[in-house]
Amino acid sequence: MTKFYELSTAERLAQLRDEGAIDDDDLPVLTDEPALPTGVAANMVENQIGNFPVPLGLADHFVIDGEALRVPMAVEEPSVIAAAGNAAHRIARAGGFRTSVHRDGITAQIVFTGIPEDFEVLQTFVHEREAEIRKVAHDAHPSLQTYGGGLRNISVSVVCGKGFSEIDLLIDPGDAMGANVVNTIAEAVAKYCVKRLDGLDLLMAILSNDTQNQRARAQARIDFDSLATRDMDGSEVARRIVAAARFAEISPLRAATHNKGIMNGINAVVLATGNDTRNINAAAYADLNDQRRTWTKWSVDEQCRQLVGSIDIPLPLGSVGGAMSTLPMAKLSLKLLHRPDASRLMGIVASVGLASNCSAMRALVTRGIQEGHMNLQFKSLAMSAGARPEELAPVVSGLRADPAHASLETAANLLTQLRNALK
Ligand code: MEV
Repeated sequence: MTKFYELSTAERLAQLRDEGAIDDDDLPVLTDEPALPTGVAANMVENQIGNFPVPLGLADHFVIDGEALRVPMAVEEPSVIAAAGNAAHRIARAGGFRTSVHRDGITAQIVFTGIPEDFEVLQTFVHEREAEIRKVAHDAHPSLQTYGGGLRNISVSVVCGKGFSEIDLLIDPGDAMGANVVNTIAEAVAKYCVKRLDGLDLLMAILSNDTQNQRARAQARIDFDSLATRDMDGSEVARRIVAAARFAEISPLRAATHNKGIMNGINAVVLATGNDTRNINAAAYADLNDQRRTWTKWSVDEQCRQLVGSIDIPLPLGSVGGAMSTLPMAKLSLKLLHRPDASRLMGIVASVGLASNCSAMRALVTRGIQEGHMNLQFKSLAMSAGARPEELAPVVSGLRADPAHASLETAANLLTQLRNALK
């Protein structure tokens, strides 16, 4: 049977339709121009003048908590989708990803300048008025409770000796990403408090993108045999991957690149599903410090002859509201993921991050990444030069024969030669 990656775009769409993953109604979103109607785009940002499409692809072979998925990824970098699907395939052979998620809420900071004479004044204020504060929070967004969300916790802190004090609200946004909900509640509570607190000036009320309470974990195993390359035994590849992961933990220079490889996969799914990539990156990096330089861990299980990987990362994602409800592509991506709730989506995205990390390290510690990257680069040069699908292979092989001189001009020359030879 022809593999998914060997099909043309039109054949892939036909297969997805046959599988029931998409309907006829979805086709115009994927094939018509523009995918984002001007009426929608013009109301999403200010001074809109056009759209900025990036390719949407499917990373194949994911099995996450027993469910087989093709994961939509929006990304301009060649090899990101292939890399994620490649590792997912090896992981699927050993049972797939197992995920667990904590979605306990997002913190909003209500910040005051000036500290009450006695810190306890603020604490007592919050303690005595907790019921009223909860009511203010509820009234600011009454529908939140019906979606399973709401104010979970209130705490008070003083930034010692620096002249600031704050009231923190822990708010569960339900299945939404939560920025609007949380900021609306924070501003309402801030207004209520400031009227009743003498000697304190409200500086701001805003959510924190440090979302320790919205985190996803995924675990995966790969048989040594599935890791072997043409010239390296699988156990050796596994041992070298563990060494590469260990090096990222001790070298800040390497950790930055290691983490970029993880975010390659994560950002692509976050973008495809209409979530906020900046929020996800801010949250993920806020979780790191000198003692914890990355989100993944890799070890070897000698007894089972398997490589074992895990990821633990804050991922404050939503599955409803915002761009997820307005962008046709995002709606379609969520449909392709079987309409996950926010927790499920977090598990999926964490799994893609782990897969991306695995694939990058396997390539790095064996043949290096350039061989695979260059093939995709050559293909994109051939396409830019105007090669038709049936002309891609000969032009790519011409470029591969002399990689040092591979350029758009060379690709165009190779294409001309090919066409002349067939005249
Ligand atoms: C390239 O986009 C990402 C990698 O550099 C990640 C890594 O080095 O782990 C391959």
